[in-house]
Amino acid sequence: MFTPHGPTLRELATQALSSTQRGYDLLAPKFDHTPYRTSDRVLDAVAGALRPLGPFRAGLDVCCGTGAGVGVLRELCRERVTGVDFSAGMLDRARAAHAPGGSSPELHWVRADARALPFVPSFDLAVSFGAFGHFLPAERPALFAGVHRALRPGGRFVFPIPAPPPVGSPPYWELWAFDTAMRVRNLLWRPRFIMYYRTFRLTDVVAELTRTGFTVELSPLEEFGRQPGGAPRCRLVTALRP
Ligand SMILES: C[S@@+](CC[C@H](N)C(=O)[O-])C[C@H]1O[C@@H](n2cnc3c(N)ncnc32)[C@H](O)[C@@H]1O
Repeated sequence: MFTPHGPTLRELATQALSSTQRGYDLLAPKFDHTPYRTSDRVLDAVAGALRPLGPFRAGLDVCCGTGAGVGVLRELCRERVTGVDFSAGMLDRARAAHAPGGSSPELHWVRADARALPFVPSFDLAVSFGAFGHFLPAERPALFAGVHRALRPGGRFVFPIPAPPPVGSPPYWELWAFDTAMRVRNLLWRPRFIMYYRTFRLTDVVAELTRTGFTVELSPLEEFGRQPGGAPRCRLVTALRP
């Protein structure tokens, strides 16, 4: 699962016993060698779906980490790309990985908690990859409201969401076991490390985005194929600020 350049088991254990923010500060130097960084396959699929809608003026990568989504936005946005994350360590790595230059858009890095995003309506595209498991369901309204506030009218908040594994399948039990272990850890240990795989459910998320004021569209990311019943393995959620 990890390359030789990735974190050791001991480092992972230390990170897992820290807060979410501190855990990412510690993981940052090796994050790009872990499977937690969003894969190029996912990034390319999302970029491909967004390309016909662009170019965009200003893009925001919410929970940018080391800048996986910033790479997508740099290709799609003409004027300005901003990555926001609460981990200073992750932002340092992102800054180092994304040198500004050429005719590419201006780059900005903002350290902020995504549950209280500090932006006025100034973006026409927001994306987020691989981070929603870090938000408790009760925290999502604040997260979605902050993104809504950051978008200009007509702006879009776009992210991929994989279909959950079939109930009873080996991956289903793996995710179930992970979430259960995290719940026990968070009952017994402070500070909490919030990361759950099974809390970000499509129907809940669509309802919450709609309550926030977005108009939501779902489209299949066909690159990832279909499940035996015909449903897409991965969808793109597009939440439009009307
Ligand atoms: C799994 S990493 C994903 C990073 C990147 N988006 C990617 O796809 O590779 C999750 C990121 O979310 C950030 N994060 C988690 N909770 C956050 C919060 N409340 N506010 C801001 N950033 C947060 C972490 O610091 C981390 O960089």
